[in-house]
Parts: sequence; C-alpha cells; structure tokens
Amino acid sequence: MIRGEKVRLVPPSGVDFAKVTGAWVNDPLTRHLIVGPAYQMSLAAREDFLRERLEPSFKGIYLVIETLDTPEPVAIGGIELRQVSPEHRSADIGILVGDRAYWGRGYGTDAMRALCRFAFDEMDLNRIELHVLEVNTRAVRSYERVGFVVEGRQRQDAYLGGHYYDSLVMGLLRADFVAAEQARQ
Ligand SMILES: CC(C)(COP(=O)(O)OP(=O)(O)OC[C@H]1O[C@@H](n2cnc3c(N)ncnc32)[C@H](O)[C@@H]1OP(=O)(O)O)[C@@H](O)C(=O)NCCC(=O)NCCS
Repeated sequence: MIRGEKVRLVPPSGVDFAKVTGAWVNDPLTRHLIVGPAYQMSLAAREDFLRERLEPSFKGIYLVIETLDTPEPVAIGGIELRQVSPEHRSADIGILVGDRAYWGRGYGTDAMRALCRFAFDEMDLNRIELHVLEVNTRAVRSYERVGFVVEGRQRQDAYLGGHYYDSLVMGLLRADFVAAEQARQ
C-alpha cells in the first residue's frame, strides 16, 4: 500500500474490480478526456485490461485509488506506472478518478504525488512522463501542482467527437518533484 494525505493506493483485489470500472470508462466525458476507445468497453475487455496489469510481464504497477478521508475507504479510481525502464530510470504515468463526484477535490493530485514519490524514493526513477489533451485543463492543472512541466505538443493527436485535439507531453524529473514538494512546505 502507498499512502498519500487524502488517498491510499492499493493493488486491485483481482479482475472483479473490472465490474466497478464500467461506469467510469464508459462515461462519455471521461472516455473523451482519457482519449479512450471510441466505443463502450465490455466487461470482458475491462477484465483483460486488468488481467494484463496483474501479469508479472506488465512492466509497471497498477493500483486502485481509495479515499482515506471517508468513514470507509471508497475506491474512486485507478493509477498506473507503465513502460518502466530500470535502464533509463524512467516511466509513463496514467490516472483515472472514475467517479465524477470526487473530481476537483484534491484526490487526483494527492494520488499522483503519492505514486511519483514512491517512484523516485522506492524505485529510484529519475523521470516520469505523461500525455494529456490540452483541453483537459483540470488534469493539466493537477499535474502542474505535482511539478510536471510541459515539454512538447503533439498537434491534432486525437480525433474526438468530430474534432482534432492537441496533446501536451509533460515530464517530471526527480529534481522538479523535490522542488515542488519544498515549495509546498
Ligand atoms: C484529471 C484528474 C485525475 C484530476 O484529479 P482531481 O482530483 O479531479 O483534481 P484535483 O482536485 O486534485 O486538482 C484539480 C486542479 O484543477 C483545478 N480545477 C478543477 N476543476 C477544473 C476545471 N474544470 N478546469 C480547470 N481547472 C480545474 C482545481 O482547482 C485544482 O487546482 P488547484 O489545486 O490549483 O485548486 C481527474 O479529474 C480525472 O481522473 N478526470 C477524468 C479522467 C482524466 O482526465 N484523466 C487524466 C487523463 S490525462
């Protein structure tokens, strides 16, 4: 378990967690924001998604985001490090706070901080990268709070709802994270 201030990150208990994610990944707005598949993800597809992440061959970590500031921990989303490269000490990161009722309340930023801290302190990584739609201002704002900086732009990277959208490439070095954490003190 990885502990944050508002959330804890725990391994999924198994593919049955896929049942929970249906309402999340099949929400039209969320699917747009995560540049997900243009069609509904079946339970079988979500189980495959999870099974792949539970395999030892998965070069990463997939964890469930649970609230810590509620009477009982509530599973509100998933977060993962993928493409982990021990050689280059780098990884990609992805997050989904699936239940909209929990958006904009600091859970996502806390989950990102907790996993990035684990990546730098426990996995000795040096660089974490992500790609985000430029229009996803909540996500961009949240990542900037953690210390990510915009490093590039992928023009017309996603075609969604009949329109092209640019994506931003954002990166976080260990030094950026340490500086951002110090600025919070
Ligand atoms: C993106 C996501 C992880 C952010 O987590 P969150 O818990 O909602 O966000 P937080 O409350 O931690 O932080 C959001 C920041 O954006 C700001 N914000 C909130 N709503 C906003 C909006 N509509 N537009 C711009 N900024 C917004 C908040 O004020 C906060 O900034 P602050 O800390 O300076 O006040 C979460 O909203 C999510 O999973 N969304 C759906 C899927 C998605 O977009 N995933 C990421 C794909 S790259």
